[in-house]
Amino acid sequence: MTKATNITWHEASITKEDRRTQNGHGSCVLWFTGLSGSGKSTIANAFSSYMYQQGINEYVLDGDNIRHGLNKDLGFSDADRTENIRRIGEVAKLFVDSGKVVTTAFISPFRSDRDQVRALFGKGEFIEVFVDCPLDECERRDPKQLYAKARRGEIKDFTGIDSPYEAPENPEITLRSDQLTIEQAVIAIADYLRKQKIFE
Ligand code: PPS
Repeated sequence: MTKATNITWHEASITKEDRRTQNGHGSCVLWFTGLSGSGKSTIANAFSSYMYQQGINEYVLDGDNIRHGLNKDLGFSDADRTENIRRIGEVAKLFVDSGKVVTTAFISPFRSDRDQVRALFGKGEFIEVFVDCPLDECERRDPKQLYAKARRGEIKDFTGIDSPYEAPENPEITLRSDQLTIEQAVIAIADYLRKQKIFE
């Protein structure tokens, strides 16, 4: 692949502050991370509905869905997961620049990949949400029967089984999804965003 040269960055004429004024709220990314089956998508979508009802300009980027399109050329090797997260980080940045509250729901198992994404954003714009659920509970839930397949050796490189998950060390929000109801998780996120003055 040949890298492009002779390209110039153009500053947008409408700023993020302009968009905040128009929308009546700020923008940020809620970066969910956690094991398969931990509840990332469920909580992200419940939170999306809550924000939509509050009139907030929001959008969810979800792992399985993005892998059907933008990232359908990627698998689950370490290198492919890193590229998956890099691309999603760039997409999330575009959404944040456009004034939205964007929620992403990817396992994003590697700390360094999440930190690289964090570095794309300004202060307070990247909010890491650790959807913390013990592996044995995720395996008990096994909504897609993927853990069972991984244990039988039918799926290789499955997170938590034969591929690592590096838990966040200092996430902005931790949700013990085996102890909270979905409603409690949604309220915890909303409370955090209000404290950060993303919305009122
Ligand atoms: S990653 O690690 O962030 O690149 O993964 P992500 O893009 O979030 O995709 C995770 C979903 O893909 C399904 N799946 C697997 N997950 C983990 N490991 C392996 N090997 C694998 N193969 C398929 C699985 O449905 C994940 O969805 P969730 O919603 O997390 O259960």
